[in-house]
Amino acid sequence: MPLSMPQTAPDTLTLTRPDDWHLHLRDGEALKAVVGDTARHFGRAIIMPNLKPPVTTTEQAQAYHDRILAALAATEGDKARFTPLMTLYLTDNTTADEIGRAKASGIVHAVKLYPAGATTNSDAGVTDLLGRCAAALAEMERVGMPLLVHGEVTDPAIDVFDREAVFIERVMQPLRKAFPALKVVFEHITTKDAADYVMQAEGPVAATLTPQHLLYNRNAIFQGGLQPHWYCLPILKRETHRQALLAAATSGSQRFFLGTDSAPHARGLKEQSCGCAGCYTALHAMALYATAFDMVGKLHNLEAFASHNGPDFYGLPRNSDTITLVRESYEVPEQLPYGNTELVPLAAGQTLPWSVRD
Ligand code: DOR
Ligand code: ZN
Repeated sequence: MPLSMPQTAPDTLTLTRPDDWHLHLRDGEALKAVVGDTARHFGRAIIMPNLKPPVTTTEQAQAYHDRILAALAATEGDKARFTPLMTLYLTDNTTADEIGRAKASGIVHAVKLYPAGATTNSDAGVTDLLGRCAAALAEMERVGMPLLVHGEVTDPAIDVFDREAVFIERVMQPLRKAFPALKVVFEHITTKDAADYVMQAEGPVAATLTPQHLLYNRNAIFQGGLQPHWYCLPILKRETHRQALLAAATSGSQRFFLGTDSAPHARGLKEQSCGCAGCYTALHAMALYATAFDMVGKLHNLEAFASHNGPDFYGLPRNSDTITLVRESYEVPEQLPYGNTELVPLAAGQTLPWSVRD
């Protein structure tokens, strides 16, 4: 899908260095291949814990944190300037003590809820949130540790395209009623229902938005044939939802902030009979977001979305340096090295109207 050139907006935009509030970095060779892409433009990122096995303890989070910094130093050398913000993977067995250790560590900044079976490596996820996790949630509410939510029900009777909307009713509302002061981030929202819910909810609720859900609707998955590199979870929705998400992201509301959900999978694991979910955007996220904001004449609200609202919600300082975006064509590479295989970024081979001045 061609991304249209905007008309009346500045050609250069300098903003406080952004952070990515939802990122998959993987581990081992994959980690080494991708970490530099995020560190190039972002100051910090919230690191998802859905490794195999998942990161369920503070001790595991500390070890993963150290592997990330080692991988970064190995690829970027002296240029390494990036802080990974670690998360724990919530399970039916997460204790209040573990939440206490996480808070005390200073490196764990949130806990992630994957409903069991919802997405990649979510088998160890939660089966009954209020029934099994009440002690952990109460402690998180008490110490101000945000819960990051993959907001889809897993009930096979619910249509894949309706799973986020149904989640609001079945899980989000009861959760927020039981723990009204718990900070909750509704991750990678994909529907008008979720955008409206977050906009109107009382209490400390926010949402992250990915570049793909701002730029594309579900037609992109079927454009001229099956397009596996546009397949992620929650799946792209219809155009009315895309428009509502873009309106929310660019509205200036403090409740919406940047979270790429950049999720690398080797080319062969996406281009096969049962392909993995995830879009790789760490490389060109800021160009994609600038393109989306520019399409609706809202570049002036990009800095709040990318660089202010996230740290403000998490209670962290904003970054003190800047990056500069320029209206210069950026050709998205056809593929990138990924260990001994390769990775296809979102919109591979296409030209974006914005780039980051390195
Ligand atoms: O598309 C996705 N990919 N959605 C997720 O929730 C997980 C992610 C991954 O880890 O690959
Ligand atoms: Zn994710």
